[in-house]
This record gives sequence, C-alpha cells and structure tokens, in this order.
Amino acid sequence: MSRVVRSVVTGVGGYLPEGVVTNDDLAKTVDTSDEWIRERTGIRQRRKAADDQPVSDLAVEAARRALAAAGRTAADVDLIVVATTTPDLTFPATATIVQRKLGAPIGIAFDVQAVCSGFVYALSTADGFVARGRSKCALVIGAECMTRLMDWTDRGTCVLFGDGAGAVVVEPVEGEGTTEDRGLLGFALRADGTKQDLLYVDGGVSTTRTTGYLRMQGNQVFRHAVVNISEAVTAAAADAGLEVSSVDWFIPHQANQRILEGVAKRLGIDEHKVISTVAEHANTSAASIPLALDQGIADGRIKPGQLLLLEAMGGGLTWGACVLRL
Ligand code: UT7
Repeated sequence: MSRVVRSVVTGVGGYLPEGVVTNDDLAKTVDTSDEWIRERTGIRQRRKAADDQPVSDLAVEAARRALAAAGRTAADVDLIVVATTTPDLTFPATATIVQRKLGAPIGIAFDVQAVCSGFVYALSTADGFVARGRSKCALVIGAECMTRLMDWTDRGTCVLFGDGAGAVVVEPVEGEGTTEDRGLLGFALRADGTKQDLLYVDGGVSTTRTTGYLRMQGNQVFRHAVVNISEAVTAAAADAGLEVSSVDWFIPHQANQRILEGVAKRLGIDEHKVISTVAEHANTSAASIPLALDQGIADGRIKPGQLLLLEAMGGGLTWGACVLRL
C-alpha cells in the first residue's frame, strides 16, 4: 500500500447551554406528558440557549474545547466549516462569525446546510480540503438553536428538539493507506429532494421572508430513517473497505432512542456499542453527533485508535454515514 494523507480527528469538544427544559416543563404548556415523551422517544430533557445567546456563541465554546483537546489554538485554524440550520444571520455565514469571535486568522470559512445530516456532510467537505493539502488545521462544527424553530403549540415537534454545539479539529496525518490508519476512512452521502414535505421549515428569505417553523410528518421520517440509514452505513463501510461488524462504537444522530435501536438492530450492532445522548440532549440536529462523540470520549468509553461509525438523517431528506478511526 502507498502512503496517503488522511484527515484525522485530533480533538473533540462539546458545549450545551445552561438552560434545562424537562418533559414536565413542556407538559405545563402543551398536551403531552413525561411518560409519552420518554416511551416514544427516550427524551427526558433538552437544553435551551438563553435569549441573548446566538448559535455562534455555542459554536465558539465547542470549538475552543476541541482546539484545547487537540493541543491547538485559534491561531492554527485555516478552515472553519459550520453545519447549522439556525444561523445567527441570513448572511454572513456563521463560520465567519465564529472565525472573528475565536480570533482565528484569515483562512477559509463557510456554512454547510444539510439539517440533521449537516455534521456528516461538513466532515466530508473538510476531508476534501485536508486530504488534498489545502488545510492543515480545520474546525468542523455542528451548532444549533433548534428551539428557535419550534412551534410551541405543536406537540408532535416541540418536545423533540434542543440546543447545543459540538466541534472536531481535523488535521492531515500520513497513513499507510490501510484500514488501520487513523482518519476519515469512508463516507456515503445521500439526498432525496422529493421527500421535502416530510420535514421542512415553512418560512424562508426568498419565499415568506420569515424564519418559519419546523414541520414534520414524524412517523414517515421514522420509517425512512431506519431503512435508508442502514443502506448508507453499509455503503460507508464498503467505501472504507471494512465490515460494519468491525466497528467499536456506533455514534448515530440522536433523534429518537427507538430509531437508534432500530438501526443498530438492522445492522447487527450490539446495543452496548451504541452511544446515546438522546435522553439528556434531545435532537440537536447537526450538533448531535459531535456532542455524542464528545460525551463518549469524556466518559472514557471511546479511545484513540478505535473505529467509529457516524450516521444521520434530516430534512431534505438528506442522510449519510462516515467510518473513521480516531
Ligand atoms: O432529526 C430529524 C429526523 N427526525 C426524526 O427522526 C423524528 C422521527 N420521528 C419520530 O421520532 C416519531 O415519529 C415521533 C416521536 C415524532 C412520534 O412518534 P410515533 O410513535 O411515530 O407517533 P405518531 O406520530 O404516530 O403519533 C401517535 C399519537 C398521535 O395521536 P393519535 O392520532 O393516535 O390520537 C399523536 O397526536 O401520538 C400523538 N402525539 C403525542 N401525544 C402526546 C404526538 N406527539 C405527542 C406528544 N405527546 N408530544
């Protein structure tokens, strides 16, 4: 095998805003119950950003923690990709706001919009820069204030989402070109625009000129999630030249505990290999995977050198998977 440059995740960080909203809190204002939410979704609580806390603040905090974990500083960063559906402003990109707040030097900065799949899409985008020698130190951030998109009278959606941010530092490292290399080893990205009506926001700059509210046909999305994610995961593993069975940890997008378990079962992944944060974080869209990764590292389960499988599905519909060795 010839030596190749791999995009390696060298640091991970997460940030959750302080405000906690429990299921009982929501049951005071919408027709729902702690029991229904826990049984149908596994969610016990979610975090809510303060009114004066924009998504860039969450992203910056996660980025600082990821840089510290990688032993880097903002001065090293030459690429920032932010996956978000809830930007501070329509423009500029939240990534450039993060660059300014971090004090990172002039470099490349832009946002990726693939809703809940955003982090996997952003990671793949950054891989294109890092593995081709166009970035020496990239920040890939998933950051969301999903509570700002909620219709608080719609019990079918408002109980599901939360706010937060997760970040990774990605750096080029030479590998042997084998599956033992550290780095992003395989991807599968998918989109099907014909399924827009299943999950979307009913407002936008060039249509209603409003922000709009999240609308979802939950049970339809649920069905697509379990079936489509399994195909993408198998394709990402094949892209890496690996079997799904060799994965040490499965770190799915955290939408619903029943989806996590359904996908794991379909793929034959042992339940003990699944990292789940859905109970405490709820669905933080593009932030959920890096937050779960951060949690798994912080509590000592995920270790350097282990093989990780990430997957997500969201509005679009978009979905995708990534196999990486930490
Ligand atoms: O990250 C992006 C992707 N999003 C997802 O992956 C979400 C996917 N979908 C889901 O997680 C689930 O479909 C939900 C949690 C949204 C809903 O669970 P479900 O088992 O599919 O329930 P359902 O939509 O079929 O609704 C069953 C019943 C309905 O009542 P009726 O019509 O049977 O009387 C709903 O009105 O549950 C009712 N319901 C609620 N009841 C209490 C819906 N939301 C609530 C609620 N509290 N919060």
